[in-house]
Order: sequence, then structure tokens, then C-alpha cells
Amino acid sequence: MLTIHLSRAFLLSIAFLVFCSTPLFAIERSTSWDIPGEAKQRQNPILPTQASIGRGILVYAKNCQVCHGSRGDGDGPSSLSLGVAMANFMDPAIQRQSDGSLYWKITVGRRAMPNWQLQLSEEDRWHVVNFLRTMFSASDQHGGTHDDATSK
Ligand code: HEC
Repeated sequence: MLTIHLSRAFLLSIAFLVFCSTPLFAIERSTSWDIPGEAKQRQNPILPTQASIGRGILVYAKNCQVCHGSRGDGDGPSSLSLGVAMANFMDPAIQRQSDGSLYWKITVGRRAMPNWQLQLSEEDRWHVVNFLRTMFSASDQHGGTHDDATSK
């Protein structure tokens, strides 16, 4: 009798814990993408040369296009099945962010956005930042000379 009693109490407390932790998880995962100050200010060590952007195209086509789409507007085939709001790289709010911020977001990910820290080398993550800037910036469509918009 006693054992039945105890195990029921045990099960109930487990159920209670699960119940409590689920919404906490949801809250934690939906918090804003707080970028540490030093990550924001981190300088891109790789110049947006043709070679870098070329490498960025390859990285993007292989890893990112499935969600973000060939036009960077979040129109990739996986965006439908995921049913989540995809980032639109043409959005000035994204282009206004520093290279360091974009790099950090690519590195850590959030929700449906994967974490690329282990999948891509540091260089490839910077190359893809250079590519996003050049390719999807409304004012710099053709990837000519690139002024670094981020000031010190
Ligand atoms: C599985 C789908 C998926 C893949 C693959 C993916 N992303 Fe994302 N990405 C997302 C989603 C969804 C968001 C929005 C996440 C959020 O707001 O919580 C996002 C957000 C971003 C952002 C932040 C934009 C902003 O709002 O500031 C950047 C930058 C980005 N992705 C770059 C990349 C790069 C580069 C790759 C390839 C290396 C990539 N993503 C691959 C789904 C994906």
C-alpha cells in the first residue's frame, strides 16, 4: 500500500515538474535575440572580395537557400513546411545590423534557425555574411565595391 502511495506521489511530482518546465521552456526560447555587445562590435576579418563572396554563394546555396530562398526573402522550399516566419535579407532592418551581429546570429541560431557553429568554419560564416550583404542589399544589388556601412 505504502509503495503504491509513494510511487503515485512520485509520478504526480514528475508530471508537475514537466507541466511547470514546459511553459518556462517556451518563454525562454521566444526571448529576443540578445546579442552580446562584443559580438555586435566584432569586426569582419574577411574583406568582401570576389573570392569571399564566391565562397559565400557556395555556402549559402548548400546550407541556407532551402529556407531563406534564392532571393533571400525567406521563400525557400523548407519555409513552407516549417511554417515559421523566415528572415528576409532584403529587409533594411537586417542590412543595418553589423557584420558581427549577423555572424553571431548565424553562429548560435534561434528556434528554426539552425546553429552553424559546428557545421561551418569561422571563415565560411564570415564569407556568407559578405555574401548576404552584397547580394541582398537593396542599394548594392550587383556586388560592386563595398563600403563598410558599419562605423566604429
Ligand atoms: C531550417 C531553416 C533555416 C536554415 C537552413 C537557415 N536559416 Fe537562417 N533563419 C531561419 C529562421 C526561421 C530565422 C528566423 C529566426 C527567428 O527569428 O527566431 C532565421 C534567421 C536568420 C538570420 C537573422 C536575421 C535577422 O532577423 O536578423 C540570419 C542572418 C540567417 N538566418 C542566416 C542564415 C544563414 C547564413 C544560413 C545558412 C548558413 C541560414 N540562415 C540557414 C531559418 C533557417
